[in-house]
Amino acid sequence: MQDKISKIVSLAKRRGFIFPSSEIYGGFGSGYDFGPLGVEMKRNIKQVWWQEMINNHDDIVGLDAAILMNPKVWQASGHLTVGFADELVECGECKKRFKKEDLKKNVCPECGGRVSQPRKFNLMMKTFVGAVEDEASIAYLRAETCQGIYVNFENVRQAMRKKLPFGICQIGKSFRNEINPKNFIFRTREFEQMEMQWFCQPKDANKWFDFWKKERINWYLDLGIKEKDLRAIEVPEKDRAHYAQRQVDIEYHFPFGWGEIEGIHNRGDWDLSNHSKYSGQDLKYFDEETKQKYFPHIIETSVGVERSLFAFLIDSYEEVLGGRTKTTKAKRKVEILLKLDKKIAPIKIAVLPLVRNKPELVKKAKEVYQLLKPHFICQYDELGSIGKRYRRQDEIATVVSVAVDFQTLKDDTVTCRDRDTMAQIRVKTSKLVEVIQRILEGEKFLKLGKSIK
Ligand code: GAP
Repeated sequence: MQDKISKIVSLAKRRGFIFPSSEIYGGFGSGYDFGPLGVEMKRNIKQVWWQEMINNHDDIVGLDAAILMNPKVWQASGHLTVGFADELVECGECKKRFKKEDLKKNVCPECGGRVSQPRKFNLMMKTFVGAVEDEASIAYLRAETCQGIYVNFENVRQAMRKKLPFGICQIGKSFRNEINPKNFIFRTREFEQMEMQWFCQPKDANKWFDFWKKERINWYLDLGIKEKDLRAIEVPEKDRAHYAQRQVDIEYHFPFGWGEIEGIHNRGDWDLSNHSKYSGQDLKYFDEETKQKYFPHIIETSVGVERSLFAFLIDSYEEVLGGRTKTTKAKRKVEILLKLDKKIAPIKIAVLPLVRNKPELVKKAKEVYQLLKPHFICQYDELGSIGKRYRRQDEIATVVSVAVDFQTLKDDTVTCRDRDTMAQIRVKTSKLVEVIQRILEGEKFLKLGKSIK
């Protein structure tokens, strides 16, 4: 199964999804860069999540807070004081360091040496702000985006005239000085989070927790994650984050085992009461109905962009033994098909002239490409046989391939090929944008082909 990870890492690099960061210098801190396809896929995941939160729910508004915040924020949140440390152990032989929870026994997984007693290691990334590098200028790169939401709770509530319950969501980078980044993009030191904070009356917190848990599980299922590879685990008190009264981890069945992709937390009044205490500002909410003042309770949903992207890649990866078309030539071959949901596939359309040694075909194909390019993320490809090019597109999850052939020159129609079924329909170029739009919106391919005749 680990083999599947190697295959995906290799595909991701070869086809421009994900590259090791600073690779020409030997990499850096297990960081990764998202290539032309990776960045499109990431943008799509963020767009689908944003749309889900803002368009598909009532009373959620967006925010984009600064990464560098007043260091007191991290005192108040508990990240510098009570909770945000891992237990670190060091191998007495090779001196490598590990997270204690990653080890099954007290021996080094690299060389078999004995490891030290655990000690606490804070994960906040430090930097200096301003020209002087002293204690007073220390600042931290945020370890979770949600703190920017809590410190803006009153600003947003007043500006948007919000009443409980309501939500604030945000997407952005977070940083953690992880002891042991591992499993490709699963655990890195720099990553993006998509977080939504739902502010509600304390008495309703449990009801909203269950509501959001269900919503979030359905989000993954709707985007094609297989039900058998997704689970929600109630986290026992001893393993919960320091701020959580209740915690459910949504886990995906990665080839290396089950791993958390999203956390749902009931943070109670931990954040608003602490920020009130440390800032001296009253962050209580006045409930006009009950005439009472109280700290709203917070239900949080927190997804890692890269972790969910990794899960989507793994879940959609298929190898077709003998080739998809079962031609004699392909018999012993393995073809890769990436069945990403249409909404998150990086490239929506490929435009392919049937052959590249006929100038009139190439000219027409380029015209079709220019017609589609303003509307969709497209690729133009003329290298190799048409079969090879279809396979290249299947490997990167391109939703529809548009072939320009000799008939196109006669009647101005093109062939549209569906990635998943390989079904083909002929479409007039004058209708192509509309037809593709309808396919991307989920209309059935062949039925649509018949209806536009
Ligand atoms: N605000 C709550 C919070 O940050 P978390 O469970 O620590 O909760 C939420 O993180 C999500 O962020 C995780 O489920 C994971 O998807 C992602 N995440 C956390 N640490 C990460 C890391 N080192 N690398 C990649 N993603 C990470």
